[in-house]
Amino acid sequence: MTQTPMPSFPAGFRWGAATAAYQIEGGVNEGGRGASIWDTFSHEPDRIADGSTGDVTCDHYHQYAADVALMAELGLRAYRFSIAWPRIQPTGAGPANPEGLAFYDRLVDSLLSHGIEPAATLYHWDLPQALQDAGGWQNRDTAARFGEYADAVATALGDRVKLWMTLNEPFIHYAVGHLLGIHAPGLNLYQSSFPVVHHMLLGHGLAVAALRRHSSSPVAIANNYTPVWATGPDGTRESATDVDVAAAGVYDTFHNRLFTDPLLLGRYPDGVERLSTMDLDSIVLDGDLAVIGAPLDALGVNYYQPTAISAPEPDSPIPFSLQTVQGYPTTSFGWPVVPDGLRQLLTLLHERYPNLPPIWVTENGCAYDDEPGPDRSIVDDKRITYLDGHIRALHAAMGAGVAVHGYCTWSMMDNWEWAEGFTKRFGLVHVDFPTLQRTPKASFAWYRDLIRQQP
Ligand code: FCB
Repeated sequence: MTQTPMPSFPAGFRWGAATAAYQIEGGVNEGGRGASIWDTFSHEPDRIADGSTGDVTCDHYHQYAADVALMAELGLRAYRFSIAWPRIQPTGAGPANPEGLAFYDRLVDSLLSHGIEPAATLYHWDLPQALQDAGGWQNRDTAARFGEYADAVATALGDRVKLWMTLNEPFIHYAVGHLLGIHAPGLNLYQSSFPVVHHMLLGHGLAVAALRRHSSSPVAIANNYTPVWATGPDGTRESATDVDVAAAGVYDTFHNRLFTDPLLLGRYPDGVERLSTMDLDSIVLDGDLAVIGAPLDALGVNYYQPTAISAPEPDSPIPFSLQTVQGYPTTSFGWPVVPDGLRQLLTLLHERYPNLPPIWVTENGCAYDDEPGPDRSIVDDKRITYLDGHIRALHAAMGAGVAVHGYCTWSMMDNWEWAEGFTKRFGLVHVDFPTLQRTPKASFAWYRDLIRQQP
């Protein structure tokens, strides 16, 4: 960890932390909540690394007041959380469930009473199971349902939520949930997957319109981005040749442009035809791109790691090969720690999109196997080094002209990491899952001091 003082960020910069409903709430059968695709998926055999489910996780549904007290102690200026669609509409349609809304009403008021800006994501992957049964995001109707759900949430909370995000990481939900089948809903749609992309984007656009009807707060989306490094088959950048660079371009389009060009440029990127054996004109209807391209007030950027790409294997149906990034330390997830990747990424977005709205880094963080020592303290030095490096890289990007309004680390607390279950700890606060006891880690004190020292 460097001893150089952290440079100053602009006054009013939002220092935050993030979570997602399914990863922390538990209370899955309470308050009239319906089932989500993650309830179904986590109860299927062999889906989750440690055989756990999302039934209890951090029990935040019951312990939210104590969690907000910890956020206040941390000095957060913003807290990014997600709203569970199946709490608001148990079957994904129809009138809002008052008990579901009441939970978020209490959460939002509690945050505001501590001077923390509520930043809400409408969809962090927990689709009501009833909608999946009707085709999920493959079905165009799901986009319309999402617009109605957004309307209900915005009607109830539009006066108090200070930043809205429609979808969280549609690319990851699409690629890991609908192509690789590793996340819910566990599908391998391959070349019939394009409707999932388009209907999520259309749902986003309809949600933007609904949010605008009831709220004057900024509206964003939270996308996952990665700097794509062309490498040779050995994973080193030095050995990359022209074919590797071309393959890296294909991957960049797939990961970074697919869910951004339609939002900021009003069109799909070249090459999108590869994703479908279906006629795109039967999916992208007249007027859709105008709905999708409605102006945004902010762009949420989730950054974890760069991606190394080389030319495809001969005869592979996939037009690139994924390599392991070489030469950097890794987290317990095996993800390379590359702080400068955040600067590279933000600069790339800034150069690529002339109308880029201000950025919020809506997720950035690392998993390590942090456990309390004999005196119960949790010394997570590697997390401090990680955060320190990434926040400095963020500052460098801002110095190079990228407008950034906030930074949310992932995550406020250890939680249920999707298919990895409880095996990956990303929190500033340690959670002992059997007892649900919360213990702030050393990184919590470090981040608290950083926030205090900023204007
Ligand atoms: C992101 C997800 C978030 C969490 C982190 C580690 O892709 O948005 O829920 O799982 O990764």
